[in-house]
Amino acid sequence: DWTSESFVETTIQGLRTRLGEDKVVMALSGGVDSTVAATLVHRAIGTNLYCIFVDNGLLRKGEFEQVLHSYQDMGLNIKGVDAKAQFYTALAGLEEPEAKRKAIGKAFIEVFDHEAHLIQDVKWLGQGTIYPDVIESVSVKGPSATIKSHHNVGGLPDFMKLKVVEPLNTLFKDEVRAVGRAMGITNSILNRHPFPGPGLGIRILGDITPEKVAILQEVDAIFINGLKKHELYDEVWQAGAMLLPVQSVGVMGDERTYERVVALRAVTSVDGMTADWAHLPYTFLAEVSNEIINRVKGVNRVVYDISSKPPATIEWE
Ligand code: XMP
Repeated sequence: DWTSESFVETTIQGLRTRLGEDKVVMALSGGVDSTVAATLVHRAIGTNLYCIFVDNGLLRKGEFEQVLHSYQDMGLNIKGVDAKAQFYTALAGLEEPEAKRKAIGKAFIEVFDHEAHLIQDVKWLGQGTIYPDVIESVSVKGPSATIKSHHNVGGLPDFMKLKVVEPLNTLFKDEVRAVGRAMGITNSILNRHPFPGPGLGIRILGDITPEKVAILQEVDAIFINGLKKHELYDEVWQAGAMLLPVQSVGVMGDERTYERVVALRAVTSVDGMTADWAHLPYTFLAEVSNEIINRVKGVNRVVYDISSKPPATIEWE
């Protein structure tokens, strides 16, 4: 019988045999899969697992610091890399979604390759790939696919020449969570909503600037904290905010203002392939909208996305 406890035990033993005294490098994202995978490898080989967590400047407000601290608390050998400037430079002036995705993927590969080179004699690349990633291109847009799509462009980055270790590649998402729970990983990581690799980069429609990121981080934090406060966070599959490339008229005193519009999106879903917009209570939406408009300078209008997937996607880009 499959139990998460027995999976943990046999996987750790298998990893010890396979990896021996070798060093492994792994990029962590703060998400469930990479965290559970890293924890297994860490239990097997300890500090020979080198974890890298990159701040791409497109994370949620406070996320880099919070997640880095959780990883440190878990005892992982983790290095936080502040690469915000490098990502913003790579993105400057890009408006087209796929161009932005490519630039983000490429910057990530450069940063990670550089970091991997700093580790003497590293032999393996650890990855949080899960079974659905293996059987079909459910995660066509996932980080491993980003890496794969760069395969064909010029030479391979050196870390792609490493042997690959993927301890979760036979598991479904709920099994990954169960394994994480069996190892005592905190619910704040296990129950975290999915978050796209390119992060806020695809939730700022059009070109990205640090100022826009700062605005969207504030809006997103108000929305997400509100969901948590009202115990709605676990009721939705994913939630976030989009910064729209339009300004709308507003009034302040007897002046007309033209300020930004943000769209809130929350969906229910099983796997992200189809989704329904979440029927959040009006009182909740009203509270969040007021708080955003009162507290986030430069935003004067909030709209709620009531489209289902298909035909609308979860993200706007
Ligand atoms: P869509 O917008 O296609 O998204 O309905 C389905 C799921 O995939 C996530 N998503 C991405 N994840 N890189 C990622 O790692 C991407 O470029 C990307 N685009 C969308 C999205 O957040 C949702 O969970």
